[in-house]
Amino acid sequence: MNSSKPIPDIIRERTSRRTYSGQPLDKAMREKLNKLLENHDLKSPFSEYSGKARFELISVPEFDTNERKKIGTYGLIKGAQDFIVGAVERSKFDREHFGYLMETIILAATDMGLGTCWLGGFFNKSLFSAKINSSSNEIVPAITPIGYYLQRTIKEKAIRTFVKANKRFSWDRLFFNGKLNTPLSLEDGGKYSELLEMVRLGPSASNKQPWRIIKDPNINNFHFYTVKTSSVYSKFPPLDIGIAVCHFDLTAKELCINGTWLFENPQILGTEDLIYKISWNEYK
Ligand SMILES: Cc1cc2nc3c(=O)[nH]c(=O)nc-3n(C[C@H](O)[C@H](O)[C@H](O)COP(=O)(O)O)c2cc1C
Repeated sequence: MNSSKPIPDIIRERTSRRTYSGQPLDKAMREKLNKLLENHDLKSPFSEYSGKARFELISVPEFDTNERKKIGTYGLIKGAQDFIVGAVERSKFDREHFGYLMETIILAATDMGLGTCWLGGFFNKSLFSAKINSSSNEIVPAITPIGYYLQRTIKEKAIRTFVKANKRFSWDRLFFNGKLNTPLSLEDGGKYSELLEMVRLGPSASNKQPWRIIKDPNINNFHFYTVKTSSVYSKFPPLDIGIAVCHFDLTAKELCINGTWLFENPQILGTEDLIYKISWNEYK
């Protein structure tokens, strides 16, 4: 990703924005975003097991009150005129792949000074699926408003308080050394600590932070899992882990920590209640 500042700075800067100015994106910004979407290689560590994904910048002007009513964000998003909408072909790792790619776009938008907010639950799926002409073989897992944001309203602040949006779990609940009963401390993490910290700071649906990472105790391999959830909620952790892998991967590349993504399914005792997703191995 070509960015104006270091990836960790952008990750730290990103935060969900639900209150927008009502101004559509100006021509230059629109062009920049369209170029970003056109030139994106649309690859992720999940590409091998995922169908194709595509993303479009779509305007839904607020003055069109009929469309507005149908947007389905239940008043949670105010004043947004433009959205990034994506579709991905149904496949094994469709949501993980989508999560990775959409997060690269959200980070690029953050770097451009624009506000965004992942919306995976509260949006009108059929309206936005029609806008991106999705086929029956595609899903539209999430969208984001994109635009000039304003100070948070009391309602937006209340939403943030409800999901504890400013908080993240501490290291000992997320990262482990060899076994789930052995937390990996920031010091143990060594040069990998910054990569893990970037995972920790990522956004997740309802801020549930479902990612768990176990480091091999002897070598620099990291195994990524999600926690199991109720079936109503189960479509979100795959998006969330895509975001986590995106943060880890982009930060590793930026810090020139070279490794590769593999599907290894390591047999680690105690992980029966987790869902294995992917591993990162440092090049030897
Ligand atoms: C996959 C995903 C889906 C989300 N869906 C919604 C949503 O439907 N409505 C909403 O208001 N926020 C949604 N969010 C935003 C989260 O609530 C937010 O990222 C989290 O509370 C952390 O806050 P932050 O983004 O400001 O760091 C979603 C986030 C993710 C990653």
